[in-house]
Amino acid sequence: MEKKTYYITTPIYYPSGNMTVGHTYTTVAADTMARFKKMQGYDTYFLTGTDEHGQKIEKKAAEAGVTPIEYVDKIVAATKDLWKLMDIQYDDFIRTTEERHMKIVQKIFRQFYEQGDIYKASYEGMYCTPCESFWTPTQLVEKDGVKVCPDCGRPCQPMQEESYFFKMSKYQDWLIDYIETHPDFIQPPKRANEMLTNFLRPGLQDLCVSRTSVKWGVPVDFDDKHTVYVWIDALSNYITALGYGTDHDELYQKYWPADVHLVGKEIIRFHTIYWPIMLHALGLPLPKQVFGHGWLLFGADRMSKSKGNVVYPEPIVARYGVDPLRYYLMREMPFGSDGNYTNESFLTRMNADLANDLGNLVSRTVAMIEKYFDGLIPAWTDAVDEAADTPLQEHCKALPVLVSEQMDKLQFSQALAEIWKVIGECNKYIDLTQPWVLGKDPEKKDRLANVMATLAECVRFVAVLIGPVMPYTPERIFAQLGIEDPALKSWDSLEKYGAIPAGTKVHKGEALFPRIDVTKELEALAGGKEAAKEEKKAAKAEQKQEKKAEKKHEEPEYPAEIAIDDFFKCKIQVARVKACEKVEKSSKLLKFTLSLGKDGERTVVSGIQKWYEPEALVGRQVAVITNLKTAKLAGIESQGMILSAMDESGNLRLMSVEEGVEDGAIIG
Ligand code: ME8
Ligand code: MG
Repeated sequence: MEKKTYYITTPIYYPSGNMTVGHTYTTVAADTMARFKKMQGYDTYFLTGTDEHGQKIEKKAAEAGVTPIEYVDKIVAATKDLWKLMDIQYDDFIRTTEERHMKIVQKIFRQFYEQGDIYKASYEGMYCTPCESFWTPTQLVEKDGVKVCPDCGRPCQPMQEESYFFKMSKYQDWLIDYIETHPDFIQPPKRANEMLTNFLRPGLQDLCVSRTSVKWGVPVDFDDKHTVYVWIDALSNYITALGYGTDHDELYQKYWPADVHLVGKEIIRFHTIYWPIMLHALGLPLPKQVFGHGWLLFGADRMSKSKGNVVYPEPIVARYGVDPLRYYLMREMPFGSDGNYTNESFLTRMNADLANDLGNLVSRTVAMIEKYFDGLIPAWTDAVDEAADTPLQEHCKALPVLVSEQMDKLQFSQALAEIWKVIGECNKYIDLTQPWVLGKDPEKKDRLANVMATLAECVRFVAVLIGPVMPYTPERIFAQLGIEDPALKSWDSLEKYGAIPAGTKVHKGEALFPRIDVTKELEALAGGKEAAKEEKKAAKAEQKQEKKAEKKHEEPEYPAEIAIDDFFKCKIQVARVKACEKVEKSSKLLKFTLSLGKDGERTVVSGIQKWYEPEALVGRQVAVITNLKTAKLAGIESQGMILSAMDESGNLRLMSVEEGVEDGAIIG
């Protein structure tokens, strides 16, 4: 019988600088999933790679005094080293500078043009000469009354560039219908709503898909002034890597459509709007799912190469090994949500989950089998204590299903939590059955045998199931349990509880994860005591400031009644979001530039970063109290308060008015 296939991808990363813990996060997730499916017997294919064209790389290379290809070659080599270090088992690594990719991108571009999906037009916008970037009027920010570049803050000039455009609007209704009838396509579901509400229903703009000012790119083969601009080049990788469009498209035939594209939430729009439309225009099936995961924040900000606030995996792995980092990344935050990377939470988890829970269970189990049974795992006996044994055994038997239910939803953290429940139960089982008491009484030997056999078997289940996340640890556990037979290390072997042959000889080894001194390690990682203190102080200060911003969502104590005049003291107005950006050094705050029509503009800082992408809010109308005493938040003077309400699940929703109301209109 033919095996079922499973095709999973990561984004192809920009090799503008070395890969961070953030890139490692997605890559480990994809690797974990691929290993899990492989273990279950799927024929898996796992693709990663690099997105090497564009202005940014051109610029970086020039700064480094090398050619673009020399620049990216070096970073790609370092990236491959990193994936090797992290034990990432990808099947292919695609580079957009490879001929196999570029040729097909040209072919796809030409097909779009020939079938009328792409047309040539003049692109009018504001141009920032130093940044060589075009901006639409809404993207510009105002500084001292002048419209300036949102990147560098310098003035922009009106400019025209000839470009090719893709008629996105042509496919809009089809895509809305597709998303609405395929609820699994975009995950988590709230991202589907965002796409529908913010982009699709308001109407898609045609997408600029070529540049004449960027040389480092795939040339448009029928108009050589142009290079293909960013997304058609980048997104196509998922099929060019499979040989789509060539005479050797066996991989494409076998693996497409992909089972899941894993992406960070900031690029979900490209993967769930542009990519499906491109595929549809090519007459190809869509990927079964696009999963937009959250961000690893560092300090208060998204870890990013351009912000320079990054953590690199190498020093962490050098100090603690690969498995603790992989475990932490998959366990710490639910896949889909944001979370903070901190050295402290990493070290704390290592101690609690790995050294204490798992490490202790393995070492106690092996030590007791050595002590009471000369190191030989005993055979099961009739001395069953149903109250103690049955719940644990049943739980352990159910574990593979519980884990795979979570894994199929890409809920890595939940899957691990399920495994750790059994580990916790095993540790409780030891306290409950008190083997050290049983061991003193020769008549209880049979009972003790069952306790040991139960523990050994539970540990075996755990070792098999953690493998996709922690590739090195299972072998270390099997070595201690004395298990050599590969059949006892497989997913299939978990169908049978009680599979370890009696008489298997355990070998006490060194502790799987030695306990660490968190304070000392924090100092070492921060590069000294003072630096560690500073880090902590900064984190505290930030928390305080965020608490303040959150306060307004707590229920205040209202007077039983107020006079209508009290209400009219509040000046509430309709305002339009002109610009919105994250406040530096804060994971909660967004800075808004609001237009009140003829009443001018306001800057307002609001603690709603968790619920909204800043770009998605631009152009929306909101309700603002405009006569509130100004307050400083994160050093920025906030001139008002944006009104909102919490939904049932604690998600904040902005208040807005129905269409047709002018900016600045009074609410009352
Ligand atoms: O966007 N937290 O490349 P990129 C979570 N080339 N994930 C993170 C992260 C963080 N702090 N930092 C990076 C690009 N990532 C394009 C993609 S795909 C056709 C083209 C991960 O180098 C996450 O997967 O900016 C995010 O989407 C990706 O790296 C961005 O990588
Ligand atoms: Mg990016």
